[in-house]
Amino acid sequence: MAVAPPLQCTARGAPRPETQRMKGLFITFEGTECSGKTTQAQLLADRLRQLRMPIRLLREPGGTPIGEEIRHTLQHSHANAAMTPEAEMLLLNASRAQLVREVIRPALAAGEIVICDRFYDSTVAYQGYGRGLDPKIVQTVIDFAVGDTRPDVTFLLLVPHEVSEERRLARQATLPFIRDRMEEADRSFFERVITGYHAIAAAEPARVRVIDGTGDIQTIHNQIWALTLPLLKRGVFAT
Ligand SMILES: Nc1ncnc2c1ncn2[C@@H]1O[C@H](COP(=O)(O)OP(=O)(O)OP(=O)(O)O)[C@@H](O)[C@H]1O
Ligand SMILES: [Mg+2]
Repeated sequence: MAVAPPLQCTARGAPRPETQRMKGLFITFEGTECSGKTTQAQLLADRLRQLRMPIRLLREPGGTPIGEEIRHTLQHSHANAAMTPEAEMLLLNASRAQLVREVIRPALAAGEIVICDRFYDSTVAYQGYGRGLDPKIVQTVIDFAVGDTRPDVTFLLLVPHEVSEERRLARQATLPFIRDRMEEADRSFFERVITGYHAIAAAEPARVRVIDGTGDIQTIHNQIWALTLPLLKRGVFAT
């Protein structure tokens, strides 16, 4: 099977000077509960695979054997009821540090397109704004976990809390019940998370593309595709 040539984009999507070129493209999906991150990450990955692009679809927390164990501890383990916000934030970044070094950096170095379902913006929004941890400490720990491995583009899907709840209940009705600790937070927590995401988008408008997640799945995918295409062209055809 033919493999597409390596991509060459900057952390903010503009061509890099020769000396700083990294080969791959790093795309993250962010947003509130049930905003459609997994659905849209999968659709984008499928479409890129159809074009024979080398794709690595990952999720956070998780994406490595160590990360998946941490995910279980964070989300489903019976032991997590007593977890402190500090422990939660450190575990998320432990999973992230492992994912960055074990998978993301090697994949980008090999010229792959890495698509990650949540990344560090989630920690800023959920543990910083949501849980109320000191934003400077949250940022310091994130910086330690990721170093200079930053997304080229982030698709931020936003839906009102009512839509999240509707979709969550509809999904719950079709699947066997699996407890998720984060879903047990109250409404004010999720309102703070949305505020956090708006602040992230305002601080980095070139990287973070805000998308209304209430539209239909295909329309949202088309919007994401339209935003992805120029990055691919710039990368593949860069001299
Ligand atoms: N645009 C949409 N319109 C209606 N339903 C949607 C839309 N996008 C996703 N859904 C449905 O909402 C549910 C949650 O979608 P999905 O798992 O993609 O969201 P998520 O943001 O990844 O959720 P989580 O926060 O739990 O990881 C699924 O049942 C999915 O089919
Ligand atoms: Mg998901």
